[in-house]
Amino acid sequence: MIKSKINEMLTRRRSGYSLEQGFYVDPDVFQADLEMIHYRDWLFAIPACELEKPGSYVTHQVGAYGVILVRGSDGQIRVFHNSCRHRGSVLCKSKKGNNPKLVCPYHQWTYELDGSLLWARDMGPEFDPSQHGLKPVHCREVAGLVYICLADEAPDFDVFADQLRPYLEPHDLGNARIAFESTIIEKGNWKLVWENNRECYHCGGNHPALCRSFPEDPSVTGIGEGGVTPPHLQAHFDRCQAAGLPSEFHLSADGQYRVARMPLKEGAKSYTMDGKPAVARWLGRVPFDDAGTLLKFHYPTTWNHFLPDHALVFRVTPISATETEVSTKWLVHKDAVEGRDYDVSRLTEVWMATNDEDRRVVEDNQQGILSPAYAPGPYSPIQESGVAQFSDWYCETLAARLAPAAQAAE
Ligand code: FES
Ligand SMILES: [Fe+2]
Repeated sequence: MIKSKINEMLTRRRSGYSLEQGFYVDPDVFQADLEMIHYRDWLFAIPACELEKPGSYVTHQVGAYGVILVRGSDGQIRVFHNSCRHRGSVLCKSKKGNNPKLVCPYHQWTYELDGSLLWARDMGPEFDPSQHGLKPVHCREVAGLVYICLADEAPDFDVFADQLRPYLEPHDLGNARIAFESTIIEKGNWKLVWENNRECYHCGGNHPALCRSFPEDPSVTGIGEGGVTPPHLQAHFDRCQAAGLPSEFHLSADGQYRVARMPLKEGAKSYTMDGKPAVARWLGRVPFDDAGTLLKFHYPTTWNHFLPDHALVFRVTPISATETEVSTKWLVHKDAVEGRDYDVSRLTEVWMATNDEDRRVVEDNQQGILSPAYAPGPYSPIQESGVAQFSDWYCETLAARLAPAAQAAE
């Protein structure tokens, strides 16, 4: 019933237009989004540097699934379901911390950092601790970014990782540290957060700080229409590549991710109010300050900017049909000293303002879509090819994954 409802909505959909209301408000669609997309795909979770040493952990919630990401005594990052193998209590309640072992707060079952059960009191002679280790979650790291997958069988990760690794390596995320992080809740569907991210049609009217450095050039947010790279972008790619920085535009065949090193506005070096670098001690080995920003997105959870002096990683987490968490982390070199090499308010000023402006436009968009009078409207072919690409990816992915189940149910 629910699947046939969503299939009908997908069939009615007009490509090149925003989606019909139900896709942004209906709890059944939201549940389908979780089950068909977020519970199946690789999801960006954290930068690896966030787990500084053995025992460092962070928790993360994706729909119904709570997970713990922890660095083991061997340095390896592992991910487990945040549910005790005794009677299921949440194991780690904090957002982050450092523990030599994982101890359940209920009856103190104690797990090693590799998930194996070390100690459980009074369980009798028949009890086999080796059968009660924490349930693992798929986890992969690529050039300092940690991805997880909640599915029993994870889709391929290697093609994406192999494509991304050379682009990221010059940014040396292995030597990064989080200088600042912010988490906001936007009262909008996660797809509205993405649609907004995938165009800069809204930038001039909404982002005075960002527009000092980020170009409103639609080819920067676009999808490489017709396979022809505009000469000004090709010149930038060529110059960066000659300096050993992979930069060419690449959109994956399935449309799930894109990387490209894009120029900033003439004269701008970083996302600051004056356009000058924000950090004196650079993160990575980019050899000049006007290399622009390496843009990467990977649906459904992350877009990133890698600059010569610092990097920004964003994570999108759906909360409900009309709420989405957006977290932003500013990464600097681990030896960069606050107050000497950078000023944290100068480093974060542009994107703190931009995130808040984006929150407002997403919430306004959601509010308008909640009206019964809302009808899907046309994307600008000049400005919103990225939005159209996201909507196509979403609808095609959902349709393909709903189809086998729908047939089996008939
Ligand atoms: S539920 Fe964890 S020790 Fe009992
Ligand atoms: Fe924006």
